Amino acid sequence: MSTQSSHQTWGGRFAEGPDARVAAFTESISFETRLAPYDIQGSIAHAGMLAHIGVLTSAEFETIRDGLLAIDEQIAAGEFPWDPALEDVHMNIEARLTENIGHLGKKLHTARSRNDQVATDVRLWLRDALDHLIGEVDRLRSGLIGLAEREADTIMPGFTHLQVAQPVTFGHHMLAWQAMLARDAERLGQIRARANVLPLGAAALAGTTFAIDRERVAAELGFDGVIDNSLDAVSDRDFAIEFVSASATIMMHLSRFSEELILWMSPAFGFVELPDRYCTGSSIMPQKKNPDVAELTRGKTARVQGHLTALLTLMKGQPLAYNRDNQEDKIPMFDTADTVTTCIALFADMMPHVAVDSAQCREAARRGFATATDLADYLVRAGVAFRDAHEIVGNCVSTAIEQGCDLAELELATLQRFSDAIGGDVYEVLTLEGSVAARDHIGGTAPNQVRAAAARARAALAG
Ligand code: ARG
Repeated sequence: MSTQSSHQTWGGRFAEGPDARVAAFTESISFETRLAPYDIQGSIAHAGMLAHIGVLTSAEFETIRDGLLAIDEQIAAGEFPWDPALEDVHMNIEARLTENIGHLGKKLHTARSRNDQVATDVRLWLRDALDHLIGEVDRLRSGLIGLAEREADTIMPGFTHLQVAQPVTFGHHMLAWQAMLARDAERLGQIRARANVLPLGAAALAGTTFAIDRERVAAELGFDGVIDNSLDAVSDRDFAIEFVSASATIMMHLSRFSEELILWMSPAFGFVELPDRYCTGSSIMPQKKNPDVAELTRGKTARVQGHLTALLTLMKGQPLAYNRDNQEDKIPMFDTADTVTTCIALFADMMPHVAVDSAQCREAARRGFATATDLADYLVRAGVAFRDAHEIVGNCVSTAIEQGCDLAELELATLQRFSDAIGGDVYEVLTLEGSVAARDHIGGTAPNQVRAAAARARAALAG
């Protein structure tokens, strides 16, 4: 099952072309055409540098550049005939260039290798992917800050162990998610800075015998510098691992967020409602309105975590320098970018439209004795040791459970049975509003602190 001729770009030493199954096994064009615009950008910068050092004439450079730009347009128009027999995006473009401009096309690959070429393409692609993703994360952050401002006074139960713990404001809760996403965006920016260096010039692994000007190519392509060591430049994929790792962290955050939305949308909680356009129905149960965006986000988190494991495992056994294994970095990297960007964009669209049922949220806090800690703090201020106060309040809660009422509904005389430090003013600390307002310091849940935190978050986002 061999093809007739040997391979057109590396066939010189081969007596026959690859077996059809081998050709299908080794090609990467079926999953990497998104690299094409970056491959062309890199080739133009490389050819320009070759002209600058006198390896090409400027007329030759211009013909190559125009030929590449014409191919770029053809690709953008979806009219490029990708040929799997040419293996990858690099050879497809180079072969087409030679077809279009003739013999001169064969000079483009002077002083480079596909090894430094692909490393360059992937870094250029990742830079754009990161910029887009950071923009979407920031859009979601902005939506959450808006929601926090809108719901700065809305009381809901704060949970630990998913048991009602202390009252918080809905706005405070949203700003917690915003803070996690702010760190995610910062991480992506740091990864961008580390990845934004030029591999080209490393050639296959050891550098090239031509007097290349790498700084010039780096500047042309918007890189902040060149990768110092040629072996490192063609072989490591730590930038891809960092990107997928930061993405897995984002997905982990979104997945926890999703879990809360799913719970809150359940009628058992009934805290929030989403517009119908962000939900789907059941084919059998007509009453159902399902939070599928959140559920699928939680589900897709598994995929991105898998991609991180795949990339770490891909690299762990490779000796220096380039190995074909590296071709397997693309699907995990591309799918990670697609998945995390789509999930973040959907959340950014959806979150500003979340309707909060403040009565239901408040009722859940009231039923859960969320102000028990406030009563303990009250006793401490009256001179009771905290451990004793804890015990006294525990007795009060158990009496309220027996009587089927909430702490604020217990009679003063009943409360005083447990401690004579309790006075008539105790009811002020037993209200939910009093409880949240009392946590009035940086990082606390008091509505005025939430508003101040939202303003700080907005300033950080703008800055
Ligand atoms: N498609 C290859 C990759 O993604 C391009 C580099 C091929 N280099 C080679 N020496 N076969 O890694």
